[in-house]
Amino acid sequence: MAEKKISDLFHIRTRFLRSVHLERDFQDPSTLSNYIVTDFVRSCIERMARGLKPRSGQRAWRLTGDYGSGKSSFALLLAHWFAGQESKFLPQIRSAVNSRQLGVSRPHFLPVLVTCSRQALGTSILKSLHWALSHLYGRGTKSKLVLEVQRLLDAEAVPTDDQICQLICKVNTCIIADAKSTGLLLILDELGKFLEFAALYPQRQDIFLLQLLAEAAARSGDEPFFMVCLLHQGFNAYTDHLNQSAQREWEKVAGRFEEVVFNQPVEQVAIVVASALNVSTQDIPRVKTIELKQAMEMTLALGWFGSAQRKILLESAACLYPLHPTVLPVLIRTFRRFGQNERSLFSFLLSNEPFGLQAFSGRSTRTEDMYRLHDFYDYVRTNFGHRLASQSYRNHWNLIDAIVESFTTEDELELNIIKTVGILNLLLNDGDLLPTEEALICAVAGVDHTTQKRVRVTLEKLRQGKRILYDRGRARGLCVWPHTSVDLEEAYADACRAINASQRTATFIMDSLETRPVVARRHYIETGNLRYCEVKYCSVIELLEFVDNQTTDADGLIIIPLCETLAEREEALKIVKRTELKAQPSLLIAVPQPLDSLASFVQEVQRWEWVAKNVFELQGDKYAREEVSRQRAITRSQLEKRLQSFIGWNQLNGPMMLAWFHKGRPLTVTNGRQLLEALSRIFESL
Ligand SMILES: Nc1ncnc2c1ncn2[C@@H]1O[C@H](COP(=O)(O)OP(=O)(O)O)[C@@H](O)[C@H]1O
Ligand SMILES: [Mg+2]
Repeated sequence: MAEKKISDLFHIRTRFLRSVHLERDFQDPSTLSNYIVTDFVRSCIERMARGLKPRSGQRAWRLTGDYGSGKSSFALLLAHWFAGQESKFLPQIRSAVNSRQLGVSRPHFLPVLVTCSRQALGTSILKSLHWALSHLYGRGTKSKLVLEVQRLLDAEAVPTDDQICQLICKVNTCIIADAKSTGLLLILDELGKFLEFAALYPQRQDIFLLQLLAEAAARSGDEPFFMVCLLHQGFNAYTDHLNQSAQREWEKVAGRFEEVVFNQPVEQVAIVVASALNVSTQDIPRVKTIELKQAMEMTLALGWFGSAQRKILLESAACLYPLHPTVLPVLIRTFRRFGQNERSLFSFLLSNEPFGLQAFSGRSTRTEDMYRLHDFYDYVRTNFGHRLASQSYRNHWNLIDAIVESFTTEDELELNIIKTVGILNLLLNDGDLLPTEEALICAVAGVDHTTQKRVRVTLEKLRQGKRILYDRGRARGLCVWPHTSVDLEEAYADACRAINASQRTATFIMDSLETRPVVARRHYIETGNLRYCEVKYCSVIELLEFVDNQTTDADGLIIIPLCETLAEREEALKIVKRTELKAQPSLLIAVPQPLDSLASFVQEVQRWEWVAKNVFELQGDKYAREEVSRQRAITRSQLEKRLQSFIGWNQLNGPMMLAWFHKGRPLTVTNGRQLLEALSRIFESL
């Protein structure tokens, strides 16, 4: 008989293979068929049901949770329930989602499902609203509401937040009056993508549409309008680079929403994972079942599952085969901290990524192996390494990777131990999954006494003999680097205290600004005359003086006043429109967006420069030194990129954020190509 492979024991449920896409999956009734109502999901339902009570104020919600934690699936469940599908639910779902038991009347909302992207929120919402209304009123009859939404979408001027919010409220009132539904349910999935966009263009103030909608939902009283946002981190995670007043504004907007932190307790994640793998436990060799359970006991004793429910975990130990019990908490933590949309817990479990679970499961069930932490180290290195490297001063990845890679040994056990310590050192800052001696014995050796002994001996050898593992006491466990090395996190914190925030950005960026003259290319090709413009920068205070006494040896002059704040920009915009400028046809002025939104980028650069200059211990620590120069390069290039998008005019196609003026009038120039065109035209007419 052919040998059984581990993968033969899986009966993977396909719905776990891809993450949920709201609009698409809502149409497919089977997507809820394997949905598992965990206690956590139940508690969320109970909380949110309060918003269904008459005149409740709790109708604007945001769900924050990691990638793959099941937010979209939950939203899908909510959408079906709100849409009046309750009676079609399978028994396991009905037991939790039962309007009568929840003390509310059966909802019959119109779901408007939006998956956000990096663009204006209003447009995304209007499109989904249009779709939902067309379906509600049927395709043939062009209802007045549908037309109204269409009109706003087609309008030449971008609709204002007020217009959008008013229209949504009007639609809400109308569908209730027409007895079509109990109200609107607006779900905004992947709100983070929109927030990234909003943070990139703070001057557009897009964020306030969210505030208006949340307020409308909370005040919707007898005409319920329910709103749910899904995102994978708090609002503040997107505001790092905004100035302080903008950060406070965002906080206020976030405060308009009731928050559900969508992180399932670990034993409930275990249940969902077990359901995804759907292992036929009766086919696992008996010795392994016993071993898994004992290993789970040991892991519980390490405290790695926190206060999770023992009983459930012991029962599911075999259902997680071939995952060693120490792997699950590390998996959850790693994906929580470093996961991305496509790389979530489920992609590790179910897709064919190198060193992932599926790749491992090609092995025979008869070998002794389980998927252990050192295997996961290889997975992380191959699939995450690149990303970890760019933020490594916090997670020490470059250091860990360099040490593990340069470690040579004939003894596989030694390597497995080093890798296990390495992956746990990556999570060092969390402070609870510690590579103590007992933890390593459990993770590497499991329950076998002879191997346990060997691990003990090897650990001693790696510490005393080879000096590759360093003991940092009970509070921190073992570590692959000596603790004499520079603590960059601390150094960075010192730098934050040392660098003063309130300084003018312009002074700092002056040196990095582009000052090469601009040649009117077409004019040169067509006429053979080489005409060019000089580029000068000044402060807004100097602008008048520069304009009045323009001196240049070139054929034309471009002046760029560096406005620090919105107020300064307003000031500059007044000056550039002066009628006197009519008489200065060879002068162009380009007004940038306020520079204060670059302040945090400048600060980052300054902090790392401070560290390089002031932390003397760097002399003796090659890794930390390299890390600091890497951080300096990264922050510099981030600043330069931002600067380029703010003031750059020499990229030919990308959008330009400068407002151009010529002879006191605005000039339509939105990219580098148009600028060269405009210059050629100007020189022609001269
Ligand atoms: N309670 C659950 N029951 C069944 N499957 C779930 C559950 N929670 C999550 N999943 C599955 O996990 C995967 C990720 O869930 P998803 O809702 O897309 O996560 P998120 O939106 O938080 O990134 C999906 O394949 C989904 O089917
Ligand atoms: Mg999702």
